[in-house]
Amino acid sequence: MSAEVINGKELAAELKLAMKEEVSELKEKGLTPHLTVVLVGDDPASKSYVNGKKKASKETGISSDIIELPTSTTETELLQLIDKLNHDQAIHGILVQLPLPEHIKEQSVIEAIDPQKDVDGFHPINIGRMMAGKDTFLPCTPFGIITMLKSRDIQIEGRHAVIIGRSNIVGKPVGQLLLNENATVTYCHSRTKGLQSFTKNADILIVAVGKANAIHAEDIKEDAVVIDVGINRVEDGTLTGDVDFEQAKEKASYITPVPRGVGPMTITMLLKNTIKAAKGLEN
Ligand code: GUN
Repeated sequence: MSAEVINGKELAAELKLAMKEEVSELKEKGLTPHLTVVLVGDDPASKSYVNGKKKASKETGISSDIIELPTSTTETELLQLIDKLNHDQAIHGILVQLPLPEHIKEQSVIEAIDPQKDVDGFHPINIGRMMAGKDTFLPCTPFGIITMLKSRDIQIEGRHAVIIGRSNIVGKPVGQLLLNENATVTYCHSRTKGLQSFTKNADILIVAVGKANAIHAEDIKEDAVVIDVGINRVEDGTLTGDVDFEQAKEKASYITPVPRGVGPMTITMLLKNTIKAAKGLEN
């Protein structure tokens, strides 16, 4: 039987509608959530992501601005700007678009952002809070994935979740969130030997490899839940995920498409985090 396709674009639209209500109520109380996005350099993909964040903010009534800086910006200049944004009471969320030019140390920039304004959830304090199960800003893509699973009441507790990819942005945190939901978690990565022996045992398979069609039907278990985090532009210019969707959907119970899958959820979770930042984290 063909899998149920979890449409991230539709779910994102529903969530944004609810957030629009919430933002309008906050505005009535005199609180307008504000997101500042910092873009260093002129990478076209980053520019397009940043514009997407601005557009989505506007749709929900969240105010936002983009600070564009040249590639020649020094690390010191960027850190000074972050310090200024940290102290600006009207700014609730700060996001520095990654990747940064090579001469700027990403980790130094991440750690310079006030953890209370870290809507990416990348600051070590927020990663630690996530590991401890405390209220925090969850990294947007993992947060989006968990939200997609919950939207379909997919059982996580007691199930074997296998993650392919161990990036700080997706792989590592999504494993932690699934563990927090009582899944049994296995991490696989580029050095994993016998990858298929793991993927074939996954009840929930999260694929964040960054390679088009890396996972096929024979790699997945019958009725598995397959979440495809990949966004790959192929030769004909179209976008495709890391999973061979047409094959895999005949074997999975649930599957996310690309496009209209995890991608639209990521931006939506950023908006959720910005509203949370405006209201303040619980202790
Ligand atoms: N570049 C690609 N994904 C992200 C993200 O989630 N946050 C930031 N800041 N940069 C990114």
